[in-house]
Amino acid sequence: MKVDAYQIVGHLSTFFDRMMTNADLPARLALKIFWGLDDDAYKKFLAQAFIGIPKDFSGLILEVPVGTGVLSLPVYKELGGAEVFCLDYSDKMLDAARERARQLNLHGVKFIQGDVVHLPFEDDFFDLVLSINGFHAFPDKTAAWAQTYRVLKPGGIFCGCMYVKGENSRTDLFVEQFCDRQGFFCPPHETLTNLEKFLNDIYSRAEVTHVESFAGFVCIK
Ligand SMILES: C[S@@+](CC[C@H](N)C(=O)[O-])C[C@H]1O[C@@H](n2cnc3c(N)ncnc32)[C@H](O)[C@@H]1O
Repeated sequence: MKVDAYQIVGHLSTFFDRMMTNADLPARLALKIFWGLDDDAYKKFLAQAFIGIPKDFSGLILEVPVGTGVLSLPVYKELGGAEVFCLDYSDKMLDAARERARQLNLHGVKFIQGDVVHLPFEDDFFDLVLSINGFHAFPDKTAAWAQTYRVLKPGGIFCGCMYVKGENSRTDLFVEQFCDRQGFFCPPHETLTNLEKFLNDIYSRAEVTHVESFAGFVCIK
């Protein structure tokens, strides 16, 4: 994977953020054409990504990767009882996330530069691990699954979303020809069926849904 791909995205974070939030016409067109998400489907995609976080959640959260925090930081504003650690490989993405936290007056969130394959936390540490759009980008997925499991407490929640192949042929072509080639994503990519089986093998319970090519998962360790 070209890790620098996200260093560049960090520099262009305003454009990235508009895309991620379906904010304007170019973003809407791109989300519809490449990801099959119209406005209604985008709302479902967003709801699916965060559905695993209980409304009254309190405790320790790890988010990996946080990226620019465009989707998750507003959610943390509503979680009064959470202590949040956000990790990402790219310091440019983290710079944008720190700035967003400052603008949101979101104090106390910790931002850590690091690699998901070496999470700098003890075993069984977090009450919830959130991963939004991360596993399709991680080069060493086996280690990433193992590390996110390791740092979660027994009974804790692992949730989020990721791209899966096989749901929309135009999206699959776009991912293969653009996202993978440019280093934004890292193959091999899971299918929905494989992901569901895999997560159920690891976790005591796992529910997998999808909106177009985005799988949502909520698992209990
Ligand atoms: C598609 S972005 C998703 C960011 C954010 N969760 C979102 O949805 O807006 C993927 C992120 O994964 C990060 N990343 C890629 N490989 C990583 C690794 N090995 N460890 C930690 N972060 C990584 C990139 O730096 C990038 O910020």
